[in-house]
Amino acid sequence: RPRVLSGAQPTADSYHLGNYFGAFRQWVELQDEFDAFYFIPDMHAITVEYSPTDLRERTYIAAAQMLAAGVDPARSALFVQSHVPEHAQLAWVLGGVTGFGEASRMTQFKDKSSKGGAESSSVGLFTYPILMAADILIYQADQVPVGEDQRQHLELARNLAQRFNHRFGETFKVPEAYIVKETAKIYDLQDPTVKMSGSAASHNGVVNLTDDRKKAAKKVKSAVTDSGDEVRFDEKEKPGVSNLLVIYSALTKRTIADIEREYVGQQYGAFKVALSELVADFVGPFGERTRELLDDRAELDRILKAGAEQARAVAAQTLELVYERSGFVRPT
Ligand code: TYM
Repeated sequence: RPRVLSGAQPTADSYHLGNYFGAFRQWVELQDEFDAFYFIPDMHAITVEYSPTDLRERTYIAAAQMLAAGVDPARSALFVQSHVPEHAQLAWVLGGVTGFGEASRMTQFKDKSSKGGAESSSVGLFTYPILMAADILIYQADQVPVGEDQRQHLELARNLAQRFNHRFGETFKVPEAYIVKETAKIYDLQDPTVKMSGSAASHNGVVNLTDDRKKAAKKVKSAVTDSGDEVRFDEKEKPGVSNLLVIYSALTKRTIADIEREYVGQQYGAFKVALSELVADFVGPFGERTRELLDDRAELDRILKAGAEQARAVAAQTLELVYERSGFVRPT
């Protein structure tokens, strides 16, 4: 069976609606047709300043939320990146075929290092996309479901796979980004010109998957809308309303045109109230499931351990092939 792989960083106390619609929903759908590998990139999370205590807790929250989203451990390997050392081992080898200039062009590094400048960023943040390429290539993944912001990193992974294959012989599957364009970029509710992000300064525009119903509803009701009063999709003139329409459509699986028709002649108010209820109905049960799962740490440990065993079986094979192709003498 073809393989699917993806990960989401445990860098906040909760994932948000953007992670869900941009990634998790696709993860869950793809489990049926693919051999699925989903993981928590804890080794990526240490490339910016962080607290070890938080990271430990957030790793469990991440696992619980992935399960609450519908990742099924009977059908998918769910694991923690640092439990599979082959990711880091492959990343080192890929570092040898990555150009410094090529790595310098990664826009996420430019964005994330923009505050203090590259000078005060970690080297780990700089080489992060190489580790991400290793995450993908070590499983010979065919498809990688992600949001729009990961497209460039996927392109790097493809380039590195092709380059390695060309220099050392056919070794890696060249992966494809699986990006659902309708929901590939969910925007912040307070500033619909920037993506919804767990690292936003204020979480008023970020609907977290652990927000309680009231909090989530309030965030939607106070979402920034645009001048005018027509509920109409127009990304240029009405980025706020358009973002809300995308979320509405994603939650109800109705087309945007259909939703627009329902609100013809009505103002933003009724539309936002309806959406706030839909969002509350979504995060309410999601949070409950997450809390139940978090109550049983032993069970989470068991799931993650089984997932890592499945993952390692595949990862070890690829690494062996890579070491062989690289000319490393293997221990006898
Ligand atoms: P991360 O942890 O920032 O985000 C996890 C997933 O959520 C998507 N996403 C969004 N989609 C739509 N709208 C948004 N506002 C939004 N914000 C986030 C991301 O595109 C991603 O799919 N480098 C990755 C983690 C990673 C990874 C990997 C992913 C590490 N190794 C290997 C795939 C394969 C990241 O930082 O995503």
